[in-house]
Amino acid sequence: MIEVRGLSYRYPGGERALEGVSFAVRKGEAFAVVGPNGSGKTTLLLSLMGLLKFRGEIRIFGHQLNGKGLRELRRSIGFVFQDPDTQLFMPTVGEDVAFGPQQFGYSGDEAKRMVKEALRAVRMEGYEGRFTHRLSYGEKKKIALATALVLSPEILIFDEPTSNLDPASRREFLDLIGGLNCTRIFATHDMDMVRRIADRVLVLFEGRKAAECDVESLFKSPENLRKWRLA
Ligand SMILES: Nc1ncnc2c1ncn2[C@@H]1O[C@H](COP(=O)(O)OP(=O)(O)O)[C@@H](O)[C@H]1O
Ligand SMILES: [Mg+2]
Repeated sequence: MIEVRGLSYRYPGGERALEGVSFAVRKGEAFAVVGPNGSGKTTLLLSLMGLLKFRGEIRIFGHQLNGKGLRELRRSIGFVFQDPDTQLFMPTVGEDVAFGPQQFGYSGDEAKRMVKEALRAVRMEGYEGRFTHRLSYGEKKKIALATALVLSPEILIFDEPTSNLDPASRREFLDLIGGLNCTRIFATHDMDMVRRIADRVLVLFEGRKAAECDVESLFKSPENLRKWRLA
């Protein structure tokens, strides 16, 4: 579903964030991108979103990213930012979740139905009229997920989905992500999350690929985990 070859990126300031990273993501899998702080996880996700001028090649559904059809691809890929306050910008929950459908030309009633469906999917039915800024952090994360789910994307990308969540919200959010059928890619250093819901893992270390493997093999090597500064 996604094929990445020789992905490299250097920030304008001169920081080299990614160097020659190659991997592939299969349809329907939960694919974890793990690595310590500064290893390039977020940069990799932003590249997948087509938000950075990277070197190398990214193919999604066989289409070259950067090429034509990016707008079409956009609709099939949802992104859940690390901080929900980056994602949510409308006064109310309903307006925020309806924003995507409206951008793609859905009418009032159809958009409303999509919003209702997305809120049900994240177990936040009836929150349409609530003020976003008054929600708890955990609730905001779920609404952010709803804004990404509302257009029924084939691929969902999450950056540090469990960071800053209290234990109960974290469990709830993991259950939501684990229960989805679409292809999911998430960056995290929450190894318990990886153990619970990931199928395969890409390990980044200092901007390079250290490993790409299934979850079981990752946990079989404690010395590697230590070397890569993972729990
Ligand atoms: N906007 C930026 N400008 C310059 N350097 C950056 C920027 N964002 C990230 N970096 C650098 O790129 C590297 C990778 O960062 P990042 O992708 O955010 O890592 P991670 O998400 O794994 O913590 C780090 O060295 C970081 O300092
Ligand atoms: Mg990051």
